[in-house]
Amino acid sequence: MRSSNLVAGLAALFSGFAMAAPAADQLEPRAGSLTQVQDFGKNPSGIKMFTYVPAKLAAKPPVVLVLHACAWTASSFFGSTKYGQMAEQHGFVLVFGQTPKDGECWDVSSDQTLTHEGGGDSTGLANMVRYALKKYNGDATRVFVTGESSGAMMTQVMAAVYPDMFAAASEFSGEPAGCFRTGSVRGWNSQCAGGQVNKSPAEWAAQVHKMYPGYTGAYPKMQVYHGDVDKTLNINSFNESIKEWSGIFGYPGTAKQTINNSPGARLTKYIYGDRLQGIWGHGFGHVVPTNETEALTWFGILWHAGHVVKLCFGCI
Ligand SMILES: *[C@@H]1O[C@H](CO)[C@@H](O)[C@H](O)[C@H]1NC(C)=O
Ligand SMILES: *[C@@H]1O[C@H](CO)[C@@H](O)[C@H](O)[C@H]1NC(C)=O
Repeated sequence: MRSSNLVAGLAALFSGFAMAAPAADQLEPRAGSLTQVQDFGKNPSGIKMFTYVPAKLAAKPPVVLVLHACAWTASSFFGSTKYGQMAEQHGFVLVFGQTPKDGECWDVSSDQTLTHEGGGDSTGLANMVRYALKKYNGDATRVFVTGESSGAMMTQVMAAVYPDMFAAASEFSGEPAGCFRTGSVRGWNSQCAGGQVNKSPAEWAAQVHKMYPGYTGAYPKMQVYHGDVDKTLNINSFNESIKEWSGIFGYPGTAKQTINNSPGARLTKYIYGDRLQGIWGHGFGHVVPTNETEALTWFGILWHAGHVVKLCFGCI
């Protein structure tokens, strides 16, 4: 019909450009349709694995691990994000982890979880990723992790404990890896949450290196968000996270570039180096909400929206 001819004509006209699917901002959050996977490997803490696999999988698909906040589940978080539709558009595999009991926080405090193959939640999550890579012939060089709040803390823990597994991480309102250590499983560290844990970049880096002793390879790129009126996880968390990853990457820890209103309104992006960005939310409490487009751009799965040709179907 008329519109399909028009689409074909426009497609020919724009061939050679990356064809834009609808912009992420135009997508509606998707209703939950995750699939639970029962036997994904060693799972010492009894966490749960869910996947979302798009109809059209890329040949060697990237794998994105997504981690919910306390009081959330995999499917409630999935349903509130646009990751499902974006997986359909870009062909990557989504893995959503879930804590053993609904509404629990991730274990970011025990020595097991803070140790490579140590037997905590981090071990189970690593095995989910390995399972997904194998099952879907995934690209082991394009594995990413993101999460909000407790899931943001766990994002930093996964980057620190399994640096060989992830190429990049994006966390929304968390804490530096190791800051929440109490020695107990799913402990609450009120000093860390209260912003009273203050370490130098070298001290943070040493703590991270101890989580995977002997590892000398690269660490994932890190993107850290925090709101400046966060009353749950003190705003000092932002600077402590920046210090931790500056210590890991050997950056001076001062922003090389500051971009206002980026990636969106009331957000300021600080670029510390190619591998580290901090995004400060003005007037944001707990949490700065997930920005799927920006996370997938940071992961290299998406081109920046500004680089993509947008078509206007309704305008002729
Ligand atoms: C974080 O560090 C920056 C730059 O060193 C400083 O201006 C800012 O006040 C610090 N923020 C907090 C919450 O301490
Ligand atoms: C999310 O990030 C994209 C760029 O990656 C930006 O265009 C968009 O405005 C951001 N959304 C919000 C709500 O900040």
